[in-house]
Amino acid sequence: MHFSTLLSSVVLLSTTGWAQYVLEDDYLADGNFYSLFSFWDTADPTNGFVAYQNQSAAQDANLISASATNVQMKVDTENVASSAGRASVRITSNKAYDSGLVILDAEHMPVGCGTWPAFWMVGPNWPSKGEIDIIEGVNEQTANDMTLHTSDGCTINDSGFTGTLTTDDCYVQAADQGTNAGCQIAASDSNTYGSSFNDNGGGVYATEWTDSAISIWFFPRGSIPSDIDSGWPEPSSWGTPLAYFHGDCDISSHFQSLQIVFDTTFCGDWAGNVWSSGSCALKADTCVDYVQNNPSAFSEAYWSVNALKVYQASGYSPNTAAPNASTTSIWSSAPFITSPTNTTASSSLPETLTTSSELVPATPTIAFAPTQSYEQETWGWHGHGHGHGHYRDEPSASASASASAEAVKRHLRHHKRHGAGRL
Ligand SMILES: *[C@@H]1O[C@H](CO)[C@@H](O)[C@H](O)[C@H]1NC(C)=O
Ligand SMILES: *[C@@H]1O[C@H](CO)[C@@H](O)[C@H](O)[C@H]1NC(C)=O
Ligand SMILES: *[C@@H]1O[C@H](CO)[C@@H](O)[C@H](O)[C@H]1NC(C)=O
Ligand SMILES: *[C@@H]1O[C@H](CO)[C@@H](O)[C@H](O)[C@H]1NC(C)=O
Repeated sequence: MHFSTLLSSVVLLSTTGWAQYVLEDDYLADGNFYSLFSFWDTADPTNGFVAYQNQSAAQDANLISASATNVQMKVDTENVASSAGRASVRITSNKAYDSGLVILDAEHMPVGCGTWPAFWMVGPNWPSKGEIDIIEGVNEQTANDMTLHTSDGCTINDSGFTGTLTTDDCYVQAADQGTNAGCQIAASDSNTYGSSFNDNGGGVYATEWTDSAISIWFFPRGSIPSDIDSGWPEPSSWGTPLAYFHGDCDISSHFQSLQIVFDTTFCGDWAGNVWSSGSCALKADTCVDYVQNNPSAFSEAYWSVNALKVYQASGYSPNTAAPNASTTSIWSSAPFITSPTNTTASSSLPETLTTSSELVPATPTIAFAPTQSYEQETWGWHGHGHGHGHYRDEPSASASASASAEAVKRHLRHHKRHGAGRL
């Protein structure tokens, strides 16, 4: 991992009294993007028709590539899929965060009937440590959905953003919302998602996560603020965000140790569930039938990323909670300059963080007693879709399922297979 010498500037800026974001992690810089992630190569917790590949298999199949300026994650576009599902990748950052400004510059995202891509962040003990879904949608969806999922006691206000509030209670079991709906703000501009996003060369999603709010801005290609290009982002200069999650919610207790995830799955609990009610139904009777038999239809189902950077506000103490694995130090090799004034930001830097590819994705620890009936209850949304009004193509689309639902599934599977230990 690349650590900027800019870290030493924290010291200088902190004396001026205004918040300044400083680069913490530049995921593409060293050209070893995938060494900073773990590959999820077991079943999709959201029941997708997908065969997630490990790193070597993904490499062999040319599904992944990485340089210092571009990273791509593709799916199999050549073969009729086996019953295991279409080959794809899902990766989780080895490092976890407790705050930050996460800036993704993507020039292309996966699109098309049957697809369900997501760029998101998730913590352990789901939902107690929270989930932030930054880019997510299914099939021929035309605008982005942004969603938080939490434990009880987090609701958001309907003000301060340009998107449209779909649901305001982030609690996954909020009584008056579909199960797992979470709190959601939907974009309406088509360049925020899917084909229009890609036709415009994509753009930048910037997610600012502080103790008081989680804000998401989208800047289409051609309208990216110069302070992002310069590496000194200033969210205060960006205007009203697309999504602004704030309100009666202690953000710092509901969101902790989040890891960054990219994935592309197919069908399953969301894309598959709404297949018959959307425009894709004209192409095949079922989502699985379509995904299995039309490899060339997935040539646009890929992520192409120009940059992924995580910044921290001046004075921040880097999180040391990344899962253990090896003793590889990413800090000891960093060109870090000890602060002459010994600020918190510099003095609390950890000696080591782990970067081992042996790390498994965050393993949710059960926060409740899962039972068969809980599962049935949890997945009750299949039957009572709560109707996301913004979701034009597919009226009963249960964005409620979202990527978060998988954490519940993961808990349940985990417990059925192994009892209460780690996966
Ligand atoms: C990766 O996946 C391939 C194909 O499924 C398998 O043969 C190989 O053993 C796996 N490698 C590791 C390290 O798990
Ligand atoms: C949210 O809205 C309520 C009711 O209008 C208000 O009392 C509260 O101050 C708002 N919270 C924030 C963080 O803006
Ligand atoms: C992580 O490393 C520390 C220090 O070596 C050790 O005490 C702790 O048990 C480890 N945690 C895990 C989950 O392996
Ligand atoms: C920085 O400050 C801390 C707390 O006062 C102190 O323990 C530590 O020794 C200082 N480090 C340096 C390098 O001065």
